[in-house]
This record gives sequence, C-alpha cells and structure tokens, in this order.
Amino acid sequence: MAKNIAGLQEVFSTFLAAMETGREPRSLYAPADYIMTLGGKRLRPLLTLMGCELFGRPAEDALPAAMAVEIFHNFSLVHDDIMDQAPLRRGMPTVHEKYGLNAGILSGDVMLIDAYRSLCRCPADASLARLMERFNRMAAEVCEGQALDMEFERRNDVTLPEYLRMIEQKTAALIGAGLALGAVIAGASPEEEYHIDAFGRHIGIAFQIQDDLLDTFGDPDKFGKKTGGDIVQNKKTFLLLKALEVADEKSRAALLSWYEKAEGDESEKIEEVKSIFQTLRIPEQTEAAKASFQRTAFEHLRAINTPDDRKAPIIEFSDWLFQRDV
Ligand code: IPE
Ligand code: IPE
Ligand code: MG
Ligand code: MG
Ligand code: MG
Repeated sequence: MAKNIAGLQEVFSTFLAAMETGREPRSLYAPADYIMTLGGKRLRPLLTLMGCELFGRPAEDALPAAMAVEIFHNFSLVHDDIMDQAPLRRGMPTVHEKYGLNAGILSGDVMLIDAYRSLCRCPADASLARLMERFNRMAAEVCEGQALDMEFERRNDVTLPEYLRMIEQKTAALIGAGLALGAVIAGASPEEEYHIDAFGRHIGIAFQIQDDLLDTFGDPDKFGKKTGGDIVQNKKTFLLLKALEVADEKSRAALLSWYEKAEGDESEKIEEVKSIFQTLRIPEQTEAAKASFQRTAFEHLRAINTPDDRKAPIIEFSDWLFQRDV
C-alpha cells in the first residue's frame, strides 16, 4: 500500500532529524547545518520516495537517495545565491550574507560531497553504478543550466526555446532525476524510468516558470526571497521573453532600454518593468504556459502502467505544488 503525502513527509523528516549536525570545523559545517535546517518545501526528496513507491518498493529503501537529492538541492541554492547576489532565502539571510563568500563556496562544496556519501548508502541490491550515472548526468546538467542562466544575463537576444532548454537543465533535470532515482531503486525498466523522468522534467519546467512569475509578482512576505531580483539581475525569464515576443514597438523599446541600463534606481526599474508586463498581460500568459507543461507531464504519467492508487500521491502532490505561493 503506497503511503500518502503526509506519511512520506513524516518518513523523510524523521530521517532528516537523525542527520548528524555540529561537525567540526564549524566554519565549514555551520553554514551547511544552517541551510539544511532552514526548511523549504522538501519537495525533491518526497519525489524520490514517491518514485520508489510507484514501482512497488517501500519509500524507506529510497531514503539515502532522497537525502542525496535534498542535500544536492541545498548545495545548488548556496552557490546559486552567490551567483545571483541574493540576500534572502527561505525568509532568512542567504549563506554568503551570513557567513561570507568563502564560507558559501566551501560549505557548498562539502555539501556536494555529503550528497554523494548519502547516495552511496542506497540498498545493496540497487545498482550503485546505475544510480551514480543517473545522479552525475543530472549534476552536470544543473551546472550547464546555471552556466547558460549566467550567460543569458548579458545577452538580449535569448529566444524562448533557448530559455526552455536552460530551465530544463538548471531546475527540471533535478526534479526528473529525483523521481527517476526512486524508480531505479525500485527496479523500474528503462522505459518506465524514461517516462517518470519526463513527467518530472515537465513538472520541473512548469515549476521554474512559476518561480519566475513569483519572483516578480509574488508576495514578498510569503515568497521568502527578495522579489524583483530577476529584473534587477537582467535575468532572461519566461516573463521577459514572452513580453519581448508579444510587445508592440514602443513597449519593446522601453523594455530593452531598462535591460540595457548599467545602473540606476533598482525599485524604479522593477516597477516600470512590472507595469509593462501587466499591460501586456504577461502573468496570464505565463500561467497558460505553465498549465501546458503540466498537461504534457501527465501524459507521461499516464504512459506508466502501474495501478492508479500508486499514482495518487504523485497526482495529489503535483496539484498542491502548483497552488503554491512560496
Ligand atoms: C528553489 O527551489 C529553486 C528553484 C528551482 C526555483 P524550491 O522553491 O523548491 O526551494 P525550497 O527548497 O522550497 O526552499
Ligand atoms: C534555480 O534558479 C536554479 C538552481 C538553484 C540551480 P533561480 O535562481 O531562479 O532559483 P531561486 O529563485 O534563486 O530559488
Ligand atoms: Mg537564484
Ligand atoms: Mg539562479
Ligand atoms: Mg528564481
């Protein structure tokens, strides 16, 4: 009998609570403890547990892989916040703000190593070579996506297909791999692994599109990150690229001039760009794009031949995810 979401959350949080903290030297491990205990939605490890139960193996057997996925995610956030010059994460100062840049770099590095350590603790009957290969492919993809994300900050000719490829790599690859690792542990066939990965990737693309929307239009008290950061950093988000595609000459020129300005008042730029987005009805079009990726995701889930009751937690979880405002 597959566990429901609350049951899986309970399984993961018990495992997380038993994780060793307080290691020495504190200059290295305190920032890692800090980010790991700040919370967050913990959605990726839950997907690993669900991927395992979907193919008939108890979630408990996927706990080390789920932990590897969550540690990797947190490592990527520490380095991402340095790269994005972000001051806030989960409503608290980012690691580099609190502990300094070098601590952010090195603590991030050791978290990546911790992630691999955890992966190596997967059950002996699951092929570690196959799990490692899956994890490595994902990890390289995330770095590739992050490289493109940074490159795009300096370009004003990024296309929507280029953007979609970038977010598939930086965000969706990990969501797909989270599910796929659980599936591999449960002995899924390569075809089943393909479909659950593709389900996760489409959900992941929708998730990043939603993150772009919340970065500009979310409630700062709930979002936990500084809103408007993508506009300040000249990020090539879904919102901007869609706006450039649908804008008339005048709005297009106005947008481009804001994204070409090297300096100036941040809050003025944020307000002006937001108002152009609103005039062009970008939030509505962003929601529509998100929904279209969700629909494709569910086609992949339907292609998997397991009993409906085993799919139920994944469906419930996806619905919850897209109602989020955090
Ligand atoms: C943040 O992910 C990074 C993105 C891919 C947008 P989450 O929104 O899942 O972050 P936490 O773990 O819940 O804080
Ligand atoms: C998330 O991109 C991708 C990774 C963390 C690898 P963002 O830069 O949009 O994530 P947030 O908004 O800072 O969480
Ligand atoms: Mg960021
Ligand atoms: Mg980023
Ligand atoms: Mg973001």
